[in-house]
Amino acid sequence: MRLLLLGGTEFAGRAVAEAALERGWEVTIFHRGRHESPPGARTLLGDRTALDGLAALDEDPGEWDVVVDTWSSAPRAVRDAARLLRGRAGRYVYVSSCSVYAWPRPAGYTEDAPLVRDASADADLTDYARDKRGGELAAVDAFGADRSLLVRSGLLIGPYENVGRLPWWLNRMARGGPVLAPGPRELPLQYVDVRDLAEWILGAAERELSGPCNLMSPQGHTTMGELLEACVEVTGGPAELRWTAPEVILEAGIEPWTQLPVWVPPGSDLHDALHSADVSRAVATGLRCRPVAETVADTWRWLTGLGGTAPQRADRTVKGLDPQVEAKVLQTA
Ligand SMILES: NC(=O)c1ccc[n+]([C@@H]2O[C@H](COP(=O)([O-])OP(=O)(O)OC[C@H]3O[C@@H](n4cnc5c(N)ncnc54)[C@H](OP(=O)(O)O)[C@@H]3O)[C@@H](O)[C@H]2O)c1
Repeated sequence: MRLLLLGGTEFAGRAVAEAALERGWEVTIFHRGRHESPPGARTLLGDRTALDGLAALDEDPGEWDVVVDTWSSAPRAVRDAARLLRGRAGRYVYVSSCSVYAWPRPAGYTEDAPLVRDASADADLTDYARDKRGGELAAVDAFGADRSLLVRSGLLIGPYENVGRLPWWLNRMARGGPVLAPGPRELPLQYVDVRDLAEWILGAAERELSGPCNLMSPQGHTTMGELLEACVEVTGGPAELRWTAPEVILEAGIEPWTQLPVWVPPGSDLHDALHSADVSRAVATGLRCRPVAETVADTWRWLTGLGGTAPQRADRTVKGLDPQVEAKVLQTA
């Protein structure tokens, strides 16, 4: 298979590139060149936000079986690339997000749930949800519903994470001492290891899947307890988890999801939206999710290789809890 990755040098795209190279696919990466391409891939340079930024794609006579696009900003960048490539590629896979569903998202929502409104393939930068939906519309406009695949990913973790969720927990555990562990311990989570997402995408491209697909582990693949305990274990055990009731955390004014990454209170709209999607289609079409302990161990290995400092995307907020706030809540809990 010949794969063109629009992106492919940071987190999700990088995982897709590496998995494709591993399968012996021919991989071309189009990016600005600010991060290194995975070894073995061919590189085309350009800036999707610049006038004539796609010139390298135009000059290259290449044809591809599949394009994978990880863009998450103004939708018109997807529109321009997809229009340029529609006669030269078989399928367009857009890495989207479950954020495209309208709020609130009911527990168990499927791909048929209502979507955010007012999104457009021609739009400039708006907000994350409408940018992602606009990207989907752009892919479908150019390639048609039967030649486009919309990967509605949930929470992504694993090696190369540049958002700061699992890296924050791992570094917190490595620091040791009493750790504010947001309960309940049995809280069911959904997420996808970026390498499992990559494998699913490649399999889906081979089988010529199209349409939208929620992409994350089945609910309860892991729990908050299993995730944090795996983090304690791989970091050598200096941390002592102090399970704390959701009400105590919320009363202290701590922001779920951002200040305590991954965690949202049970029974909330947030939990329905972020940890309870229906993923029957993904599972039926080949999604395999590795155990959480493996994801955590591999991410720790990668992170320690970087001296504990994970890369951070400039267009995402920094995650994590101030140690003083944590200590204060633990004292009063
Ligand atoms: N994190 C989550 O929990 C989560 C959840 C759901 C969905 N998602 C979605 O998953 C995707 C994550 O993808 P990723 O960012 O990790 O993919 P990636 O493809 O690994 O990294 C982004 C790529 O974009 C390239 N790039 C950035 N600006 C560019 C420009 N102006 N012109 C050309 N290339 C440019 C970068 O190239 P350089 O090397 O030149 O910098 C880099 O290769 C996003 O679409 C996000 O919305 C994430």
